[in-house]
Amino acid sequence: MKAIAFNEFGGPEVLKIVDIPAPEPGEGEVRVAVRAAGINPADWKIRSGALSFGTPSFPQYPGVEVAGVVDAVGSGVSDVAAGDEVFGWAQGGYAEFAICTAVARKPAGLAWVDAVALPVAVSTADTVLRELELRPGETLLVNGAAGAVGSMAVQLAVAAGVTVIGTASQANQDAVRSLGATPTTYGAGVADRVRAVAPNGIDAVFDAAGHGVLPAAIELRGGTDRIVTIADPAAAEFNVRFTSAGSQRPVELAERVAEGIVSGEFRLPGAARTFPLEQAAAAQQESEAGRGRGKVVVTID
Ligand SMILES: NC(=O)c1ccc[n+]([C@@H]2O[C@H](COP(=O)([O-])OP(=O)(O)OC[C@H]3O[C@@H](n4cnc5c(N)ncnc54)[C@H](OP(=O)(O)O)[C@@H]3O)[C@@H](O)[C@H]2O)c1
Repeated sequence: MKAIAFNEFGGPEVLKIVDIPAPEPGEGEVRVAVRAAGINPADWKIRSGALSFGTPSFPQYPGVEVAGVVDAVGSGVSDVAAGDEVFGWAQGGYAEFAICTAVARKPAGLAWVDAVALPVAVSTADTVLRELELRPGETLLVNGAAGAVGSMAVQLAVAAGVTVIGTASQANQDAVRSLGATPTTYGAGVADRVRAVAPNGIDAVFDAAGHGVLPAAIELRGGTDRIVTIADPAAAEFNVRFTSAGSQRPVELAERVAEGIVSGEFRLPGAARTFPLEQAAAAQQESEAGRGRGKVVVTID
C-alpha cells in the first residue's frame, strides 16, 4: 500500500511516499481503508523534532485520525465489521490502510472529510472540559475558539449550559459567534476585552491555541486554578496544567457529535481543506501556516 513516512526530522520535504505492506490489526484493533486522514499540528511538530516522546526511531508514519471503510478486524472486535463506514483514532493514518484503536460509526449523511475532523477534536475537548469541571451557568474562556479543538470545546460547553467567550482572529469573529460563544480577538489587551464581555468574571480557561495567553488567563482567574492548556510549552513555567488527550476514546460522544453535524445541532468551523495523499507535505504546511478555518485533510480515492 501507499503510505507517507519520514526517516529524519526536518521540514515538510522529509515526508516521502513509500510502498509498504498493509498493517495487520491486533487484538481489539480495526484496519480501515482510509478515505480521509486528518492533519493535526502535532504531526508537523513531531516531524520537525520539536515534539518528541522518548527516544525516536525511524521510519515514522504520521496520522492519528482517519475516516474510511472497515477492511479487517482483530480478535475481540464485535461492534464493527468489514464494510462499515467509520471514523476514529489511528496510527499511520496518512496511508491507504491504517490501524485504528477505536472507531465510531459515520452517519451516511456526513462526508469523509468532515468525519475525520472529529476524533482528536472531540477527545481533546472532552478531556479538558471534564478536567475543568464546568457547571451550567459558569463562564468559560476558550483561547483559539475557531480552531479544530477550540470550536469543539465551545460547542460541547455551550451544550452543557456554560457561557463561552471565545478568542479568534478578526476574520473568525462571526464564525465563533455562530458556534454559540461571544467572540473577541486574541493578542495584546485580551484580558481587558474579555472582562468587557464577561463582567461577572471567568470561571475557567481552556487554552486551545497557545501563543502566550497564559499571563492574561492567570490575570482573569486571579491565579492558576481551573486553567488548562493543550498547546503552550511554557505551562510549567506558569504553574499551569498542560493536558494531553492521550488515550481517551469517547466513541459515543463522537457519534453524537457526528449525528449532530448532520442534523445541524453541531457545526465544523469551516469547509475542509483537502490535499491528495501525494501532497501530504503541502497539507502539513497549510496546517502549520495557521491560516483559515476548516480541517486540513489528506484524501485517498
Ligand atoms: N495536548 C493535546 O492533547 C492536543 C491535542 C490536539 C491539539 N493540540 C494542540 O492544540 C493546538 C490547536 O490544535 P488544532 O488542531 O485545534 O489547530 P487549528 O485547527 O490549526 O487551530 C489553531 C487555532 O489557533 C488560533 N490562533 C492563531 N494564532 C493565535 C493567537 N495568537 N492566539 C490565540 N489563538 C490563535 C487560530 O485562530 P484564527 O484562525 O482565528 O487565527 C486557529 O483557530 C495546537 O497547538 C495543537 O498542537 C494539543
